[in-house]
Amino acid sequence: MVRIGIIGLGRISGNHIGQLLNCLDAKITAVCDIDAEKLKSAGDRLNIPESHRFSDYRELIACPDVEAVEICTPNYLHVPMALDVIRAGKAVEVEKPLSTSYENGVGELVSEIKRTGLPAMMCFSYRFMPAVRYAKDLIGQGKLGKLINVTVEYLQSGVFIPGRKLEWRFVKEYAGSGTLGDLGVHLIDMTRFLVGDFESIYAMSKTVVTERQKLDSDEYAPVLVDDLTGMMARLEGGVIANMLFTKCAIGESNTIRFEIYGTDGIIKFNLNNPNEITLCFAAENRTDGRQKTIPVPEEYRLGQEYAFVQAVQGKLTPYFPSVTEGAECQRILDAAVRSAAENRIVAL
Ligand SMILES: NC(=O)c1ccc[n+]([C@@H]2O[C@H](COP(=O)([O-])OP(=O)(O)OC[C@H]3O[C@@H](n4cnc5c(N)ncnc54)[C@H](O)[C@@H]3O)[C@@H](O)[C@H]2O)c1
Repeated sequence: MVRIGIIGLGRISGNHIGQLLNCLDAKITAVCDIDAEKLKSAGDRLNIPESHRFSDYRELIACPDVEAVEICTPNYLHVPMALDVIRAGKAVEVEKPLSTSYENGVGELVSEIKRTGLPAMMCFSYRFMPAVRYAKDLIGQGKLGKLINVTVEYLQSGVFIPGRKLEWRFVKEYAGSGTLGDLGVHLIDMTRFLVGDFESIYAMSKTVVTERQKLDSDEYAPVLVDDLTGMMARLEGGVIANMLFTKCAIGESNTIRFEIYGTDGIIKFNLNNPNEITLCFAAENRTDGRQKTIPVPEEYRLGQEYAFVQAVQGKLTPYFPSVTEGAECQRILDAAVRSAAENRIVAL
């Protein structure tokens, strides 16, 4: 039985908790939040004794009944907390993006993970979508021939939620970037995972809602992170990537479109339908628009939390997203921020 502690009991923690409750090999033994209400609510729901409810995350990490820690706090806290977990000799799972910038301790964290060999997972949740895992296998089998280009979009509409204040996500110091790091990092990882690494980037960003009310007063302050970012990238092998990440797409609650084109075929998926994939292979004489949409085979299902629990038990599942890969994605995020700020192509 893997005994897990969770730090940060906000929105995404609900997802982690829901999945962990379905893992037979895992038990949530401790929780932590600086918000007393959230701590009480999660503690009560999970029947955690008072002695295992913490407001100081260091105490959760030190708790002898915790052998693996999940970090679900705002972005600027991920690296310092993960470093403390690894230094305590425990396994860690970190929410995305890894940091606010690579310079904020990412190199040190990667070195410590390598030195200790402890399991360290990045929550690139969409890697666990069946369509993504199936696409990975089809590309690995060479079904697409030589890859040519990829088009990806991540669409939400959250910047327009009425009354939304200057929460941490809109503050550069706490978030690093806006939609780019929040949504874009998922597709940056997916592009590296399915297609190849990034060689250069040209990004453009826009802030549509330019000021928001502060959380603790009537004053307004400027928003200094992007609401949307578009970018072109050159990937290894000369593949061209065209990417758009936006929270300004009215009517879209959470849409991911991904299209990969090769000399021998194409793959498309839309994560509103994660169990379906659209394929077209030249070998089947389908060069004229006759694409077919099929269900993804059952064996491609795998839960993120199940994969983490397995890793803590020493059983690495295929396509495990590591913190080290999260660090590479952080370099790409930083390059995109620099490219947009300086209006130039940035090499990686
Ligand atoms: N993998 C995904 O698809 C996905 C989806 C949503 C969010 N996320 C990531 O999860 C993280 C959290 O996002 P969220 O939407 O849950 O945010 P949130 O603001 O709802 O929750 C964050 C929680 O952390 C707590 N917290 C802040 N400082 C703390 C500290 N020092 N010690 C303990 N707790 C502290 C807050 O009180 C809050 O309850 C972010 O990094 C975000 O990018 C990932």
